[in-house]
Order: sequence, then structure tokens, then C-alpha cells
Amino acid sequence: MTIGAPKEIKPQEGRVALLPDHVRELTETGQTVLVEAGAGRLSGAADADYAAAGAQVLEDAAAVWAGADFIVKVKEILPAEYGFLRPDHLILTNLHTAANREETDRLLEAGLTAIAAEDTHRFGSPNCALAGEIGAFEGIRLCLAPHGGAGRHFFGHFGSRPIRALVLGLGNVGRGALRTLLGLGCETVGFDLVWGARYRAEQDHPTPLFRTAEIEALSEHLAEADLIVNCVLWPKHRDDHLITREMLMGLRPGAVICDIACDEAGAIETSRPTSWADPVYEVEGVRHFCVDNIPGAAPVAASAGYGAALMRHIRPILAQGWRAACAQDPWLARGLVCAGGALVHEETARVQGRARAALEDVLAAPPLS
Ligand SMILES: NC(=O)c1ccc[n+]([C@@H]2O[C@H](COP(=O)([O-])OP(=O)(O)OC[C@H]3O[C@@H](n4cnc5c(N)ncnc54)[C@H](O)[C@@H]3O)[C@@H](O)[C@H]2O)c1
Repeated sequence: MTIGAPKEIKPQEGRVALLPDHVRELTETGQTVLVEAGAGRLSGAADADYAAAGAQVLEDAAAVWAGADFIVKVKEILPAEYGFLRPDHLILTNLHTAANREETDRLLEAGLTAIAAEDTHRFGSPNCALAGEIGAFEGIRLCLAPHGGAGRHFFGHFGSRPIRALVLGLGNVGRGALRTLLGLGCETVGFDLVWGARYRAEQDHPTPLFRTAEIEALSEHLAEADLIVNCVLWPKHRDDHLITREMLMGLRPGAVICDIACDEAGAIETSRPTSWADPVYEVEGVRHFCVDNIPGAAPVAASAGYGAALMRHIRPILAQGWRAACAQDPWLARGLVCAGGALVHEETARVQGRARAALEDVLAAPPLS
């Protein structure tokens, strides 16, 4: 297979799927790797570094998509890339198809095979931790007076209390948020449905600044919060919310919602994804920060973690083909969105009301179409 790594085109997205060290590992085992010129620049990797690692550096995205049959990327397929899609492409990237009907249509029409990287990380995406850490950092910044916040400091100097933060969801992202909030001295309450998640967070942070609570108690804490950091992945079929529009009226003046999960009308009814170019909007006087590619703000670290995680899947796919690799690794199979024009992804089928092929059938034999 020829592997292609195009440059990401989402605004302010500086990550790249493979860094030169990942490319070197591939080329040293005889693989051909095509990298778009400038793809790694914001991640600290120059075109010359890729060339030295054995990649062919091509001038534009069209050449990479045309020359490669295994495309590795970071973000979803954007409209400007739809014209590049071919039936023989295998794509491994963060696709988020359940929330994107148009992208799903284009992938199915192209008749290609696509794997959603976000569903394949057995121990959580390494970029989730970064999203929590950086997202909480932005939330704290928005608590400062020049940004419209109540002007509290993150440390409790001179007898004034520090920022009070609530973290909803103590998974990979939530634990990242805790590292920033508690590292900087904010009083923090962590909420999770699952006792084990609360227990683990308490063990990680034995400090009087931190305590946990059951999610049912959330409304009792809202009126005291300066910053609410949401890290709960919200099932797309649910139409209830942890924080409704009405509940925003009960928040303190200057309070900030930092919705890292940023599901459209998800855990936070008033959330919609934003970009680093225009990250914050206001509803009922409450600022919402909902950037959907937060780790893209630290591409040097994020690409190193993301590339290493992708390589764990790229190796078996190259060695055995995607069908055998999926058959052997249920986490990789979990990410299989479509193959040969057939939708496989359970969540996308359910949310969009589409028919779905059985995974076993798709893995057993190449589809006829
Ligand atoms: N904005 C970004 O750039 C960015 C980057 C990475 C991840 N994310 C998103 O962040 C979200 C969280 O990811 P994660 O890896 O931490 O997920 P996770 O599954 O590891 O953690 C989610 C936590 O929420 C808890 N939870 C689930 N339902 C709950 C409820 N109703 N009330 C309270 N707690 C509940 C779970 O028990 C779990 O501990 C996802 O939606 C992911 O897509 C966003």
C-alpha cells in the first residue's frame, strides 16, 4: 500500500497524522509514504525532515490523495476533500460521522473503506488528555476580567477565594482538566455517573481543593461556579441535557461554560461546536467556549501522541490488510465506519436512521460493489 498524509485544512489545525520518526519506521520496512508539502510545519516537522525520513514530499493535496491508497489524517473529511475520494481508498482519521450526515453520504457514495480513529483507542486518545488540559486553561483565562469573567484569580491570594470550577465527566478529558485546574489552584468539584471514575480522581488528587459529587447533585453547585468544564460525551440520540438553557439563568455573573465534549445540544443544551478562529459565543449572558479541535492548539505535542497511536493500527493493517486487522482487534473494528459503500458504524446508522451491514459479513468477504 502507498500511505498518504495530506496537510490538515481545518482552520487553525496544525496537527499532522505522521511525524518524520513514524515515516522513517514505515519507509525502513519498505513502505512508500507520500506527505503533502507543509503538512508538518506547525507540528515542528519541516519538509526536509520528511524527505530525510524517506517520504516523497508532494506539492499539493490532490497529488497525495491521487498517489496513495491508504490515507491517514487527523480531522474529518471536509468538503474541499470530497472530490479526492476513490473506491480503493482506505482512510484512517477522526471522522465523527454520526454527527455529520453529509460526510457520511460522501464516504458511502465513494464506496471506500473508512475507519474512525476516535473510536479505536483502547486506552483513550492521547489527545483527549491534551483537550482537557488546554480546554480548562482557556476556561480559566476566560474567568479573568478583561475577557468578561468575574475577575477571580486561580490562586486564593490575600484571603479571596480562588476560581470555583465544576468538571462534568472524569474520563480521559475530565482528568486532563483536573490536572490544569488543581495544578493552578482552583477549587474544583468533579462529577461522574460512575463511582469508580470519582474514586480514581480522588485518589489522583488528595487535596482539600478537590472533592467529587454524584451528577444528580449538579444543580446544587451551579450557582457557586465560576467555570463549568463539560467532558461528558453525550449520546447523540438523547434529547435531555445536564445543563438546560433555563439553568443558565441561575449561574453567577461572568460564569463560563467550557464545553470540551461540545456535542451540539448535548450535555449542555446551548452548546454548538466552535473553532479556534471564533471560539466563544454568548447565550443568556453566559460565555460558551466550545472549540472542537482543542489539541490542535498544541500540535507539536498532539501530533507526537496521535501519530504514535495511529501507528499501533497502521502496522497490523499493512501487515495483514484491514479486514484481518479488524478481525483481530475489536478496537480497530469498533472504528470501522464503512466498507465498499456499506455503512457498518452502529452509532452513525442509529443516529441517522440508515441501514447497516453486519461487521462479520463485511470482514468475511470483500463487498461486491
Ligand atoms: N473539543 C475537543 O477538541 C475534544 C478533544 C478530545 C475529546 N473530546 C470529547 O470529549 C468528550 C469526553 O471524552 P473522554 O475520552 O474523556 O470520554 P470518556 O468516555 O473517557 O469519559 C466520559 C466520562 O463521562 C462520564 N459520564 C457519562 N455520562 C455521564 C453523565 N450523564 N453524567 C456524568 N458523567 C457521565 C463517564 O462515566 C466517563 O467517566 C468526548 O465527547 C470527546 O469526543 C473533545
